[in-house]
Amino acid sequence: MLNTQDGLDVYKRLVRYYYNGFLNFVLNDEDISALTWSKQQELLQSIVHCSLIKKYPVNNEFSRLYFKKLISCLEKAGQEVHDELYIGLCNIMNNTSDDNLFRYRHHIIGNDFNNIITIKETKNMVVNGTTGMKTWEAAFMLVDWALCNQGVFRDKTVFELGSGVGFTGIVISKFCKPREMILSDCHDDVLKMISDNIEINFPNMTVKEVNNCKSFVNEKHCLGTMNLDWNNDNNMENIALKKPPDIIIGADIVYDPSLLLPLCNVIQDFLQSNNNIEIYIASVIRNEATFETFLSILDTKGLTYHKLQQEESVFVEWDNTIQRCLLKIKMLS
Ligand SMILES: C[S@@+](CC[C@H](N)C(=O)[O-])C[C@H]1O[C@@H](n2cnc3c(N)ncnc32)[C@H](O)[C@@H]1O
Repeated sequence: MLNTQDGLDVYKRLVRYYYNGFLNFVLNDEDISALTWSKQQELLQSIVHCSLIKKYPVNNEFSRLYFKKLISCLEKAGQEVHDELYIGLCNIMNNTSDDNLFRYRHHIIGNDFNNIITIKETKNMVVNGTTGMKTWEAAFMLVDWALCNQGVFRDKTVFELGSGVGFTGIVISKFCKPREMILSDCHDDVLKMISDNIEINFPNMTVKEVNNCKSFVNEKHCLGTMNLDWNNDNNMENIALKKPPDIIIGADIVYDPSLLLPLCNVIQDFLQSNNNIEIYIASVIRNEATFETFLSILDTKGLTYHKLQQEESVFVEWDNTIQRCLLKIKMLS
């Protein structure tokens, strides 16, 4: 059981599973008996009649499987099933509007149901040749570490490499009080998705677009998006930053052997503009040789690193059984 779930009653856990798109839940006898008619009613209010879900629905197929599983658990245990659960399932099955390409996931930060980040994304690993259209596991780990270490980001300019749909940068901007948060990627569809997700989570921002950069500003937050391709030469000349960032972050960007050198070149270029930049890279290690190559390129570039510990989920769920690494990289002094 994940840390964030400890002590949560079954109603809150089921809401969280529905919002997150999580289907592998288990309900024990105690959970089932707690799911009285009125608790089921309460659950339906939160997942079917809630304005957030109406506006940004979860994937229809997921919803169908979730309702089926819940009804089946209740039926098997002989617990009375609320009529509206059956009606809900029929409505989902009759809903053919979902094209299944995009879905919304709602991440409850900690156990505070007022702190929800909504992310539009796909469930496919690759869309139009990019891996950037879904949130990857390393992003959850990095977000969790950031939320546990909010002071690191306070009043800092933070620059994200390979942002994907933008979950990490959006959470850091919302909860860690950076001066400015810039999210970058190289794919037009991904950059559009980042902008959509910023607009969902920060409504009513003042938006400006100059060249390939967009900025979103209100009295509390300042976010930007930027097209940055590690394979381009002269990236530093093209990046329109008033001053170098204080912090660079990246989640699940160490995976493609052909990108390791270009990625390390970008990191080195940033460090040459300000050798005090702190860099935090979160990785899932799918191939040890690829990760070792990344570390040895850092070595050859005179960059030093150490591993940070994040043993278990605290504010957001992630799978702590996977092989992973959270690195802090700096210039060798
Ligand atoms: C596995 S995804 C990780 C996305 C996001 N950080 C996350 O963890 O959910 C890798 C990201 O790196 C981006 N990427 C790949 N090649 C890139 C390049 N040459 N320059 C910049 N970004 C690149 C992809 O578009 C994608 O968003």
